[in-house]
Amino acid sequence: MYACFRSIGAYVPKNVLTNHDLEQRVDTSDEWITKRTGIKTRHIADKDETTSDMGTKAARLALERAAMQPDDIDMIVCATISPDYFCMPSTACMIAKKLGVANVPAMDISAACSGFIYALATAKAYIEAGMAKNVLIIGAEKLSAIVDWTDRTTCILFGDGAGAAIVSATENKEEAIIDVNIAADGKYYNYLITPGCGTNHPCSEEVLKERACFIKMKGNETFKVAVKTLTSDVEEILAKNGIASEQITHFIPHQANYRILNAVANALGLSDDQVVMTVSKYGNTSSASIPMAMNEIYEAGKLKKGDLMLLDAFGGGFTWGSALVPFCG
Ligand SMILES: CC(C)(COP(=O)(O)OP(=O)(O)OC[C@H]1O[C@@H](n2cnc3c(N)ncnc32)[C@H](O)[C@@H]1OP(=O)(O)O)[C@@H](O)C(=O)NCCC(=O)NCCS
Repeated sequence: MYACFRSIGAYVPKNVLTNHDLEQRVDTSDEWITKRTGIKTRHIADKDETTSDMGTKAARLALERAAMQPDDIDMIVCATISPDYFCMPSTACMIAKKLGVANVPAMDISAACSGFIYALATAKAYIEAGMAKNVLIIGAEKLSAIVDWTDRTTCILFGDGAGAAIVSATENKEEAIIDVNIAADGKYYNYLITPGCGTNHPCSEEVLKERACFIKMKGNETFKVAVKTLTSDVEEILAKNGIASEQITHFIPHQANYRILNAVANALGLSDDQVVMTVSKYGNTSSASIPMAMNEIYEAGKLKKGDLMLLDAFGGGFTWGSALVPFCG
C-alpha cells in the first residue's frame, strides 16, 4: 500500500495587520520590514478564535475537496506550537471533537515550522504500515498569542492561520508520495525558543515579568543555518530520488522570509514560476505556512492533478524536512 496526497484546504483569519499598523506599536518601519523580510501583511485571529477553530475550518475544506465525511478519517495529526491548551488536551483532540470524529487516534506534533512535513511523514508511515487508510493532517497556528508584541525583532514576522490535507492509502504507485525526509539537531535549541512556562522554567511571576513565555529568536544565526539546511535538504532528496529540479512543478517552501526563499531557490536553480511565495501576505505562520501556500495555488487553479510538489521546511529545534509529493486532488 502507498500513501497519496489527496486534497488541500486552508483557513485565513479575516483581520489584517499591516506593517503600518506595526509602526504604531514598536519602533519599526514598513521599509525595514519589507526590505529585510518581504512581509507586507499578516492575518491575526480573533481573541476568541482558537488554533483548533482554524484547524477545523481548514480540515472541513480538505474533507469536502476529497469528497469525504469526517467519519472516513481514521487518524488525526495536528502540527502546532501554539496549541489551544498548554499541556492537554491536544489540539488534535479538540479538532476531532469539533469535527465529530471519535474512536480514532488524534495527536499533536511539535516540530515548529517543519511540523507539516513531520505530520506528512507520520501519515505516510502509518498508511504504508497498514495502520491507517485516511489520515487528516493539519498545520494550525495562533502565533499572535505567543508573540511578544513589544519585541520588534520578532513581532513583525509572524501571523495566524491553518492548512489541512487528507493523505490516503492507494495501490496506484503513480499517485504515491515519492519520499519524505525529516531530521533535527537539538544543539540549536536556544536559537528559537519560548524559554518560560515549561518544566525548565515553570510559570511564575518572574517568568511572566521577563516575558519568557513568548517567542525569542537569534534571527541572524537562524537565518544562516536556515539557508544552508533548506538548500542541502532539497539537494539530498532530489539526488536520492533521481529527480532534476526542472521536473518540479511547484516548489513550496516554509514561508519565513523572502530573502531565505530567494537564496534557496537560486542555489537550486529554480525559476520564479516554480517557486510559491506567500510570505508577503501571511508572514511566517509556522506549521501552517506550507499548506496555506499550497491552498493558495490550488484556489488560483494552478495546482493540478499529477503536478509534482517539492516541500521544504526549517524551524525551531532545529528541525527540518523535505518531501516529493505528486498532487492527487
Ligand atoms: C529577523 C530578521 C528579519 C532580521 O534581519 P537581519 O538582517 O538579520 O537583522 P539584524 O537582526 O541583524 O538586525 C539589524 C538591525 O535592525 C534592527 N532591527 C531589528 N528588528 C527591527 C525592526 N523590526 N525594525 C527596525 N529595525 C529592526 C536591529 O536592532 C539591528 O540594529 P543595530 O544594527 O543597530 O543593532 C532575519 O534575521 C531573519 O529573517 N531571520 C530568520 C528568521 C526565521 O526565519 N525564523 C524562523 C525560522 S523558521
